[in-house]
Amino acid sequence: MFNKTLLSLSSLILLVACGSDEGKADLGIETQYTMDQHSYARPEEAVIKHLDLAILVDMDQKRISGEAAYDLAVNGGTSIALDTDGGLEVLGVTDPGGASLDFTLGEDTPLGRALVVELPAGTDRIIVKYQTGPGAKALQWLAPLQTQGRKYPFLFTQGQAILTRTWIPIQDSPGIRFTYSAKVTVPQELMAVMSASNAKERNTTGTYSFAMEQPIPAYLIALAVGDLAFKPLGERTGVYAEPALLEKAAWEFADTEAMLAAAEDLYGEYRWGRYDILVLPPSFPFGGMENPMLTFATPTIIAGDRSLTALIAHEMAHSWSGNLVTNATWNDFWLNEGFTVYFENRICEAIYGADYARMLHVLGHQDLVSTVALLERSGHPEDTHLRLDLEGRDPDEGMTDIAYEKGFAFLKLIESKVGRERFDAFLRSYFETFAFESMTTDRFLEHLQADLLGPEGVSLDVAAWVDGQGLPADIIVPTSERFAVVGATMNAWLSGTPAQDLPTGSWSTHEWLHFLRALPPEMDGERMSELDQAFQFTESGNAEILAEWLGLCIANDHTAAYDRLDTFLTTVGRRKFLVPLYTRLMESEHGRIMAHAIYARARPNYHTVSVRTIDELLDWKDANGPVLF
Ligand code: BES
Ligand code: ZN
Repeated sequence: MFNKTLLSLSSLILLVACGSDEGKADLGIETQYTMDQHSYARPEEAVIKHLDLAILVDMDQKRISGEAAYDLAVNGGTSIALDTDGGLEVLGVTDPGGASLDFTLGEDTPLGRALVVELPAGTDRIIVKYQTGPGAKALQWLAPLQTQGRKYPFLFTQGQAILTRTWIPIQDSPGIRFTYSAKVTVPQELMAVMSASNAKERNTTGTYSFAMEQPIPAYLIALAVGDLAFKPLGERTGVYAEPALLEKAAWEFADTEAMLAAAEDLYGEYRWGRYDILVLPPSFPFGGMENPMLTFATPTIIAGDRSLTALIAHEMAHSWSGNLVTNATWNDFWLNEGFTVYFENRICEAIYGADYARMLHVLGHQDLVSTVALLERSGHPEDTHLRLDLEGRDPDEGMTDIAYEKGFAFLKLIESKVGRERFDAFLRSYFETFAFESMTTDRFLEHLQADLLGPEGVSLDVAAWVDGQGLPADIIVPTSERFAVVGATMNAWLSGTPAQDLPTGSWSTHEWLHFLRALPPEMDGERMSELDQAFQFTESGNAEILAEWLGLCIANDHTAAYDRLDTFLTTVGRRKFLVPLYTRLMESEHGRIMAHAIYARARPNYHTVSVRTIDELLDWKDANGPVLF
């Protein structure tokens, strides 16, 4: 956890007339900057408008080096403050004429070190020469054996929430947007892709050029380097993956183009040109990351039956909620994720039907109920609020299912009060009105009242939802007919029907997940074996089903699955799967021993985001393994 040395100006809003903000200055529109507790930037004084990156990726030394040049809007400031972290070294700062500029690197804090560059009058472009340090937490450098092809190394970045500053000196605040270009040089046998316009083929020079022409916040800058190939999915959509996975991935994501059309039908034009997906190696710490134009995705959603593609709908939905209208600070994270879960659900309804969307809603509600219980027990009940106060903490700590599922539930409630048609019109105009802007919770609530609740005469205890603890009394508890059938089937088994005689033939992944979650928490070895023999859970190639099952195996000491558990934990780095499994292991003495033994081998395979979480969970001491940061 962060110590309390951070700024305490929590929600000060700074209004500033801003020179070249998307032509809005011409219209007399002012740019609003919200004080961000997690960045040293002072945008009201000087702010980045455009970044030109020219970097070399050294896969052997595990280092990125090069130059970052920034076009600035200087509003009376005499210096500009950028964020850096992870031992990033600044080798020099100049103006475009090559004249050196004075700079200082502040003290090392949990937010990193502020790089403050003096700006002589009239300076509106600076060039920083730098290289990344060994503690660059955004980066995961993979050895060939950690990839599908086992022949070439791989690198990927993860920026959200405050990690971009570990590989680019930048104003790393979600409320600050700029365009970027990049020139990235990689070993000739590899290909580089970014959250920007991308090449479709590897070239022979090893240098790739990128442009992101829409202004984005720093957390959405992303880079991956590896043995990659591309396959189109539709006119505007496609997939990048290691060659051995490409065909499988393209088959799995065949609905992507239709999802994009459905999303546009719902909430307006897609503003980013292309929508491509990059399939990463299994250590990717998230299910997906909404890097603009190029969603980064875990390979664990390639189940072979297209059953986990709601995740694509989710990351795609962020092209509106999150990437177009962006949470102003990490305290407003629910504006990104809650809206996105709602939108994801609507895309899935359009593509897969209302039954499917209802099942997603019920599973999400189950997650919400257990997250609330967990947070209330864990001594952080205030983390169940939609609006967070993450001052003095790593923002990552506040990024729980609350933002996703309580945010979603809040929007479902509003939808039910005003009717879907009216709510859709509201959302369409929200994305249009605030496109390429950042949004605070207050600003959203004001707009909600003025544009929807007021005119519709709807009264709602907004404060209870946004600043209250736990589950509000008026939350809609979702139900699903298909899950009711699952429940009845479960009862049949509990009252004696053998597992293999249960009518499960037509079940989807979601029905299986519901089944597994509804099983009695304690079952004897015979019961566990019966289920496993009938349904082959331990052999499942579906990571969601497998992870749910492995949790039950730990709780019931079903040793037959432990080899599979070991393989899963040492190859998959997706935090959502790791946390419940290690948590379960930590609940018994021999489980703890197993957790430590597995983690000692698995830890070098995980991204720092997962390492940080699991270190804490296992109370892992540095002496037990390599110190990553
Ligand atoms: N933006 C998130 C991932 C994220 C959250 C990264 C917080 C860093 C900090 C992404 O859109 C996401 O929500 N991914 C989910 C999948 C989704 C279907 C709920 C995930 O990774 O599981
Ligand atoms: Zn998301």
